[in-house]
Amino acid sequence: MIVAVGLVVVLAGLVSALFISPDYDQLPEASTAQTPAVMGGGTASAISPAGLGQTVAFNRGEMMVARPMKNAPPLKPFIAKEVQLSEAHWQGLEAIPLSSEIKKKLKLPAKLEGLLIDEVSLNAALSGLLAADILMVVNATRVKSLDDLLEVSKRVQARRSVAMTVYRKGVQKIFVMSAEDNLGYAQVETAPMILPGEIMPHPYRGPCTRCHTVGTTGHMVPDPDGIILPPPPISVDAPRPHQDRGPCKACHVMITN
Ligand code: HEC
Ligand code: HEC
Repeated sequence: MIVAVGLVVVLAGLVSALFISPDYDQLPEASTAQTPAVMGGGTASAISPAGLGQTVAFNRGEMMVARPMKNAPPLKPFIAKEVQLSEAHWQGLEAIPLSSEIKKKLKLPAKLEGLLIDEVSLNAALSGLLAADILMVVNATRVKSLDDLLEVSKRVQARRSVAMTVYRKGVQKIFVMSAEDNLGYAQVETAPMILPGEIMPHPYRGPCTRCHTVGTTGHMVPDPDGIILPPPPISVDAPRPHQDRGPCKACHVMITN
């Protein structure tokens, strides 16, 4: 038991060491002279599990007394005017954009356009559709995006059935999806809200704010091992050292001076 606890502490230390930015090493309680095990324990108790992002932001700001950003205002949640849709649900069909990332993963032809059906249940399953089918046409209309699907579903919402063409293993097949009463229209979602400074679990897909809102409200506290440090405040004329992640103020408090 003691051995197991020790191992967890060491692991926590290793994991936090991985995610901690070099800057963090300058903070008093995370001195590099400490062993990983001690550092892990110290880090875990320094970060309260509730509202992880905000708590760290507060601690970090407060400890940087020597820096001009001491009185930096808290970051406001950032919602871009246009956030891309990431998922649609319709009569048991779940569809996501057929990105080049997915085409590569699933070894699909690069020129294929449509939506990936990544889950089927209910009426969609009864119609014969399968997960991994590529939805290409709905009611004689090409669907190349979730917006296309939303639009065509609205046009047929009062009907009881609709024809769909899918690409499956190199051939196109037609299925008819029926509902008892009426089809209704697709429900759409955007990607989950992320914390500023959160680590990407997926490959780079473009500026984060194209798909995510950035904030701390409504975000579930991440796995305790996924320690997230908020990006530091930056001056308005700071050059961008990383890839394009969206408007700076989505993640950084901007300092004018
Ligand atoms: C083209 C859209 C798109 C872009 C751009 C994008 N993401 Fe994502 N991200 C998603 C989607 C969709 C998910 C949901 C899981 C999945 O499909 O991979 C996701 C999941 C996440 C998650 C997990 C969230 C959770 O609560 O499960 C994090 C963290 C994340 N992205 C961070 C980032 C960061 C940081 C950037 C910018 C560097 C970024 N993403 C850019 C679409 C995007
Ligand atoms: C989606 C969040 C996000 C957006 C948007 C973003 N950044 Fe960052 N930035 C980060 C994170 C996280 C770091 C910490 C290091 C890293 O992950 O690359 C960082 C680090 C930095 C740093 C280094 C700061 C230091 O003291 O270590 C600078 C400078 C910076 N960003 C500038 C910018 C500029 C300029 C923009 C806008 C053009 C911008 N960032 C947009 C998340 C973001």
